[in-house]
Amino acid sequence: MSKEDYAVQMRGITKTFPGVVANKNVDLDLRKGEIHGLLGENGAGKTTLMNILSGFYKPDEGEIYVEGKRVKMHSPKDALKLGIGMVYQHFTLVPEFKVVENIMLGMDVVGKKLSLKATANLIEEQAKQLGFTVDPWSKVADLSLGEQQKVEILKVLLRGAKVIILDEPTSVLAPVEIAGLFNVLKQLASQGKSIVFITHKLNEVMEICDRITVLRSGMKIGTLNRSEIASTLDIIKMMFGVEAEPALAAEVPKELGKEVLKVENLVVESDRGIDAVKGVSFTIREGEILGLAGIDGNGQKELAEALSRIRSVKSGKIYFKGEDVTALSPADLYLKGVTYITDDRISEGLIQDFTLAENVVLKDFRKNGVKRGLFIDWKKITENGRKLAEEYELAAAKPNSLVQTLSGGTQQKLLVAREIGGDASLIIANQPTHGVDAKTTAYIRKKLIESAAKGAAVLLISNDLDEIFSCSNTIAVIYEGRILGILDRQSATRENVAYLMIGVKKD
Ligand SMILES: Nc1ncnc2c1ncn2[C@@H]1O[C@H](COP(=O)(O)OP(=O)(O)OP(=O)(O)O)[C@@H](O)[C@H]1O
Ligand SMILES: [Mg+2]
Repeated sequence: MSKEDYAVQMRGITKTFPGVVANKNVDLDLRKGEIHGLLGENGAGKTTLMNILSGFYKPDEGEIYVEGKRVKMHSPKDALKLGIGMVYQHFTLVPEFKVVENIMLGMDVVGKKLSLKATANLIEEQAKQLGFTVDPWSKVADLSLGEQQKVEILKVLLRGAKVIILDEPTSVLAPVEIAGLFNVLKQLASQGKSIVFITHKLNEVMEICDRITVLRSGMKIGTLNRSEIASTLDIIKMMFGVEAEPALAAEVPKELGKEVLKVENLVVESDRGIDAVKGVSFTIREGEILGLAGIDGNGQKELAEALSRIRSVKSGKIYFKGEDVTALSPADLYLKGVTYITDDRISEGLIQDFTLAENVVLKDFRKNGVKRGLFIDWKKITENGRKLAEEYELAAAKPNSLVQTLSGGTQQKLLVAREIGGDASLIIANQPTHGVDAKTTAYIRKKLIESAAKGAAVLLISNDLDEIFSCSNTIAVIYEGRILGILDRQSATRENVAYLMIGVKKD
């Protein structure tokens, strides 16, 4: 292959942050028309490498060639002009703006100025090609995470990117939507575009990647053709250097205790004032993990927020251990032992400008045991923080690192540590393993199961059927704000659940 056959070549890329070498002498070749999987565990340096390719960071050392020519990029705008566009792991849309406005922002970068109406038409057309619909006139803040991500993908496509970098694009998509996205990626590749696909899901890699590159601790371990990979185990070995244990160490409890949560006819509105949860009823008992399956955007977020009391309830009742808590404040509910793991750790879960230690103990100050009279026992708080950080293997990240500098997976681990590290009676977990590598995923699931085994009730909201089936003792499916079925884990089949997720009841 001659140099010009490569869309991109990265040579000897090194990038250091204070105290961390995020990329160390990394080479990466991107062929025209390939789907290239970029893999590695949390903190391996994937996002950093792609932030460099998309002009967001400058490497300390190394060179980048686009179609054989050496380039220097000083900003994402420069990269876009060279045809390189990135879909970020954490969304970059302006929530207050409409979809069409967000997509138009920066369109002038590539020299195209279109009317809103014309752009809206383009958006609808492109979305249709990708197999979904999106209303160009809705406000981004009103969209679910899954919908927002689709807008991000449309954004780079409509700017004419030839190299499209997707940082964990499937983590918020449901199985049907993933299949649709994959078809589009394949089509784009067949048109000669190059795609970098960062994912933690190895079955996805096996399904669509032509080649993969694995990073570990900032270094490139190797690049393989799809045909050279016999099974996902080969990839696991490269990623972790050892054979990781994807299996769960804990068993889902079989004996259930007293009723902890009872939800009666709950109706909750979305930000747009439409009923997103339309009369939902269920109970969760001690030792029970109720897995709530569903395609993102069917009322899960509103339900989780209403249950954790950060969103108001329109009608219906929530009982916690028999007590009506429908009108309680989130802080009071937390004090009673209800914790909430959000799927949106960036804007809701963690304070980016605080350190790791401060975030771990953030909520502790309200609890008893750390107050001494009027004073807060900082020593105790720091001690609690250190214990949690140790238990959750957060030690690699220093306690005084600012949260904004941690990798996505480490941030999620931190959030989970804080929310289930204590002695919660009810854990509401909304997409707890969103964007997390295989090892951390297994770890978080194990922690949830252990909490249930100790008597906690868990609501596990997930669009990942593997997660639902490996952790739950009861499975419920939500579709368009209604629970279509509550099934016993033993009798539920994937097929049943998958059909319910798209609103089809089969007998
Ligand atoms: N802006 C920054 N400042 C300081 N350190 C950073 C910054 N960005 C990344 N890092 C560090 O660089 C390393 C690589 O991070 P990166 O985000 O590239 O990992 P990743 O492979 O994308 O992980 P994940 O799968 O969790 O998203 C991590 O140790 C991270 O803490
Ligand atoms: Mg990343």
